[in-house]
Amino acid sequence: MEISVLVSEWEGHRLLDTGDGFKLEEIGGVRMVRSEPKAWWSKALPESEWNKAVAIHEEAGRDSRWKLQGNCPKEWETKLGQLRFQLRFMDNSKQCGVFAEQSPHWKWVSQQKQTGEQRPRLLNLFGYTGAASLVAAQAGWHVTHVDASKPAVAWGRRNQELSGIAEAPIRWIIEDAMTFVKREVKRGNQYEAILLDPPAFGRGPNGEFWKVERDLAPLLRACRDLLSPQAKFLLLTVYTIDASSILCHNLLEETTKGLGGKIDIGELALKQEGNGRLLPLSLWGRWSGKGLA
Ligand SMILES: C[S@@+](CC[C@H](N)C(=O)[O-])C[C@H]1O[C@@H](n2cnc3c(N)ncnc32)[C@H](O)[C@@H]1O
Repeated sequence: MEISVLVSEWEGHRLLDTGDGFKLEEIGGVRMVRSEPKAWWSKALPESEWNKAVAIHEEAGRDSRWKLQGNCPKEWETKLGQLRFQLRFMDNSKQCGVFAEQSPHWKWVSQQKQTGEQRPRLLNLFGYTGAASLVAAQAGWHVTHVDASKPAVAWGRRNQELSGIAEAPIRWIIEDAMTFVKREVKRGNQYEAILLDPPAFGRGPNGEFWKVERDLAPLLRACRDLLSPQAKFLLLTVYTIDASSILCHNLLEETTKGLGGKIDIGELALKQEGNGRLLPLSLWGRWSGKGLA
C-alpha cells in the first residue's frame, strides 16, 4: 500500500514558519498567526518575522477572536486561476475561507474535465465556502453543494459571483449531510462523483450532531447507494489527528466493495518556505471507478 503526500503549490498561500503549536502564513498577501496543533517542533524564524503578522488569532477557552493590526483588512480576496475567493476574519473562527492544503485535490478535480453534452453530477458534502464546488463546475460537472452553515453557503454563492461564473450549474443546499444523503437515496438520485470533507465535530442546521468516528462509516455506506453505474470517483479527507490514511483506505474499500476500480490514499501537506519542512494537515483517500482507473 502506497501513501502519497500531496503538497500544495497554490501561490495564493505561503507557509512562512511553523512550530511550538503555531503557524505563520500569508493568504492572499495577508500575514497571520494561528494555532496549529500539528506543529510539535520548534519555530525556525526569529520572533521579528512572526511580529510582522497583521492578524493574530487569539483563543480563550471556547471563544476566539482575531486581533488585527495596522491596516489589516477584515475582508479581502485571493484567486485560483479565474476563480476568486473572498477571505474574511470572523470571531469564533480560526478559518478565514479557504483550506489551502486542499489545492492538490482542486487541481485533480479540475483535471477530471467533462465535455459530454450532459454534465455528470458531483456531490460536495461539507462543502464549506465552495472552493471545490467552483473548481468542479468550471471543469464541466453539475455540482450539488451541501453544508449545514447558512453563512458558509452564502459565502460560496458570493465566491461564485466574484469568479464570474454565476451561470455555472451549482445547487447550493443548507442541510445536514446525513439527512441530505438519506433523502437523495430515497428519491433515487445518483451522482458520478462525491467529495466529502467532514469535520471532526459539527452540527446540522437542526442541531444534528456530527462526530466523525461515529458517523463517517454510516454516511459512506449511504453514499454508496448514490453512486451511479458510471461513477468516476469518491474523494474523502479526514483531519482528525489520531486517524490514519490506512483508515481512509479501509473505509473506501468497504464502501466500494464489488465496484472494481482502485483506491489511492495519502496525506495533504503545506510546504514551509526556507527549510522545506512539510506541515501535515489532512489524510485523504480516493476511490476511482473503472472509468478513470
Ligand atoms: C470544511 S469542513 C471541515 C473540514 C476541515 N477541513 C477541518 O479542518 O476539519 C467543515 C464544514 O462542514 C460543515 N458541517 C459541519 N457539520 C455538518 C453537518 N452535520 N452537515 C453538513 N455540513 C456540516 C461546516 O459548516 C463546515 O463548513
